[in-house]
Amino acid sequence: MAGSGVFAEIRDGDGVFRYYSDGEWKASASGKSVPIINPTTRSTHFKVQACTQEEVNKIIESAKAAQKLWAKTPLWKRAELLHRAAAILKEHKAPIAECLVKEIAKPAKDAVTEVVRSGDLISYCAEEGVRILGEGKFLVSDSFPGNERTKYCLTSKIPLGVVLAIPPFNYPVNLAVSKIAPALIAGNSIVLKPPTQGAVAALHMVHCFHLAGFPRGLISCVTGKGSEIGDFLTMHPGISCISFTGGDTGVAISKKAGMIPLQMELGGKDACIILEDADVDLAAANVVKGGFSYSGQRCTAVKVVLVMESVADKLVEKVNAKVQKLTVGAPEDDCDITPVVTESSANFIEGLVMDAKQKGATFCQEYRREGNLIWPLLLDHVQPDMRIAWEEPFGPVLPVIRINSVEEGIHHCNASNFGLQGCVFTRDINKAILISDAMETGTVQINSAPARGPDHFPFQGLKDSGIGSQGITNSISMMTKIKTTVINLPAPSYTMG
Ligand code: G3H
Repeated sequence: MAGSGVFAEIRDGDGVFRYYSDGEWKASASGKSVPIINPTTRSTHFKVQACTQEEVNKIIESAKAAQKLWAKTPLWKRAELLHRAAAILKEHKAPIAECLVKEIAKPAKDAVTEVVRSGDLISYCAEEGVRILGEGKFLVSDSFPGNERTKYCLTSKIPLGVVLAIPPFNYPVNLAVSKIAPALIAGNSIVLKPPTQGAVAALHMVHCFHLAGFPRGLISCVTGKGSEIGDFLTMHPGISCISFTGGDTGVAISKKAGMIPLQMELGGKDACIILEDADVDLAAANVVKGGFSYSGQRCTAVKVVLVMESVADKLVEKVNAKVQKLTVGAPEDDCDITPVVTESSANFIEGLVMDAKQKGATFCQEYRREGNLIWPLLLDHVQPDMRIAWEEPFGPVLPVIRINSVEEGIHHCNASNFGLQGCVFTRDINKAILISDAMETGTVQINSAPARGPDHFPFQGLKDSGIGSQGITNSISMMTKIKTTVINLPAPSYTMG
């Protein structure tokens, strides 16, 4: 059960979950807490500490001190600790998954998958770090005009310092460890600010790192109100790098952060282009999986279907047949469609649906909502003047736009301010490559729905979808800087012969 057994110390006597600072679980001096509302029951399920700016200062001070020693810890030892944390995390997948069910209404099986995937990510990160951080470059000067071979240049990768990780509500464990593990293997310390919904799952995950035996202060986790500590954290002079996944807040962070590396993933409007020669069964299965898994609350969800008119009826019919079979209800029952994360999200989704209705979209199902639970809805004949054609619902409602040419599909995709992923369904690989090259998105999937994983693949968004590239190798590199040492010789030195 959450907050019991090995996790007992992360909760105080009043049942409020503690924050983690300098290797200890603490109650905030504020005496205040932040409630976490269960999306299904819409009542308070957990409470976390409302930390103060003073507490943030202390955390960053100890993170800076711990990082100095950690940078001197041999790479293989860092990897060993990460492997240990991964094993502990997997061992305790049940209580962590339970938190995900209660805090973010993630279907029970998906919640377990998120924790196991996170353990695998940590282990892969440890291995990749050992490989890539142990290598550098050697350059000689006479390859540049005007130079003789009098300089030998050695490069290596060194840590940045304190990395601030801000994951989103939809993957509070996986998208936290995708920042924590690369930061740690690269010799950085980490300050985690989890999302409010998902904070308790994240605190449990952090405790697995604590149990693994990482040094005091190297990892900390601060909870609280964004209005109190949000800007304070992101603008703090002690922070050397920010890795953020979420929504528009990321744009604000990028404007306020100083001269530090940023890794940002800020959502998408992933288009699914379906051509006349597509395998319509395959496309329909992927539209449903891509559009409705975790109730559409994934940045990589299919968020607009652009289907050639000639196959549109067939596709819509097949998608509808599958939507019909989706189970709707509680995450505990492992339903496909579960309540969306907050009431304001549900209201926003409803606003998009009503706008489309008013402007003449065809509803393939009756629109139905109870509290935060919205039944899956396919909207056909969506037109570009409808908000849902462009905005990201982050819910189980999916617009279909019928197109008359490939160019029309590409144009719609590229007119979006987002550019995360997209996909194309066709049996013609040559056409697929041309379309992929034309789509202004960080990734294009051919004959499959968009997805971030496998987690070692590069993952990046263009335009408003983000800054930088993620994926294990890219994240490790992004959380390092290059250090160069040049050996200057008194006379040119050439190899034998
Ligand atoms: O929500 C954003 C995530 O990066 C999407 O990850 O494709 O594994 O669902 P996913």
